[in-house]
Amino acid sequence: MAVTCVFGAQWGDEGKGKIVDFLAKEADLVVRYQGGANAGHTIRIGAERFALRLVPSGVLQGATGVIANGVILDAGVLRGELEGLAERGFALADSLKVSDRAHLVLPFHGPLDRALDGSRNDLWRNDTTGRGISTCAGDKYRYEGFRVADLLSERVRRDRLAYLVERGNAMLRGLGAEPIDAAAAIAGVESWVEFLRPFACDTGKLLRDAQKAGQRILLEGAQAALLDVDFGTYPFVSASSTGVNGIPAGTGLPLRRLDRALAVAKAYTTRVGSLAGPFPTREEGQVGEQMQERGREFGTVTGRRRRCGWFDAVSVRHVCETNGVDALALTKIDVLAGLGPLKLCVGYEIDGRTIDTFPADVDLLARCTPVYREVAGFDGDLSGARTPDDLPAGARAYVAAIEEEIGVPVEIISVGPERTETVIVDAR
Ligand code: IMP
Repeated sequence: MAVTCVFGAQWGDEGKGKIVDFLAKEADLVVRYQGGANAGHTIRIGAERFALRLVPSGVLQGATGVIANGVILDAGVLRGELEGLAERGFALADSLKVSDRAHLVLPFHGPLDRALDGSRNDLWRNDTTGRGISTCAGDKYRYEGFRVADLLSERVRRDRLAYLVERGNAMLRGLGAEPIDAAAAIAGVESWVEFLRPFACDTGKLLRDAQKAGQRILLEGAQAALLDVDFGTYPFVSASSTGVNGIPAGTGLPLRRLDRALAVAKAYTTRVGSLAGPFPTREEGQVGEQMQERGREFGTVTGRRRRCGWFDAVSVRHVCETNGVDALALTKIDVLAGLGPLKLCVGYEIDGRTIDTFPADVDLLARCTPVYREVAGFDGDLSGARTPDDLPAGARAYVAAIEEEIGVPVEIISVGPERTETVIVDAR
């Protein structure tokens, strides 16, 4: 591995944190390049459970963490996260770098995000995490963002902060929402100056220099490719380029320096929230319930129940193609044991015809009926498997069917939440 990217191939919560943590033991630098505190990455080390939102998961393996310019940075959340990690023996003062070009979530961005989502009608509500991601990203593209460099420059801070907070309040009032306390907000933001100063630097240069020096860089995607603002189920997406496409703009590391793209997919599909966004393979009966319960499908950040259903090879193939994916890590295959015959969605039926591409029109996607390929299931406890031969024949056949449908090899199979509960498929 020289420069490797790992990102989610479905709607999030694929178990990327574990895969990144697993690969990070071979990395010198682990990098977040998009998203923000809307992410929730869970890592289990023995009896300990770590839930990280901004700090790259791989720091727990001793790599240097980089929060690159594409991250929508909530400095308050970062401060809390670093304090929590320090209490548990992970002091990151010297091993975390934050881009001076990253845009900061200001105190009105979260309330505005929630007010805007609340004002949308039921059909178009995004079910945002309410962390101010879309509103901060919107300000960035309206040239009204506030970056770490702007915070650290006393003149720019003085010139712009009060204006931005007042404008945020005007927007909140316009939506009939409660404005924030401007003085308290400004004081809070000013308290980030001394906190962020030691971490802030030009992380693009740092990464380019590291790459030239042959250091191993692991880029850690947040959210997932079906939430990508361009190639996901727009408008039920998050405000960033969540896959490989987010790397050059979100880091300053040219895309041609990327050596390898690994996508992480669950062996079934989940989607957070009860309504927002189409989900063709959703199962509401006993199958969906077993996936929900055995897979413990609740959001890390929000605690919300995730909808569950069969693996959708049409959407994962779309993701692999749009991102040039080299290999797949397949997680939570153990959850499918004992479920009987398994189904893979290989096409969609819509208005009397069958398609095998992923449509841009979410209304059409919502009306699609999956075309399934049935694969024999498997039983037993898979958690002890460490090589493909340790897996039941049915599980191996299921993996082979997925590879065939998406056109990408599966190189890692996760059979449980622990670091060790992982099957490495020999490079073919
Ligand atoms: P936002 O990113 O908070 O604006 O939320 C936009 C959509 O993406 C909502 O439907 C969220 O539930 C979803 N979302 C955001 N972050 C994650 C994540 O890390 N995992 C899964 N879904 C997410």
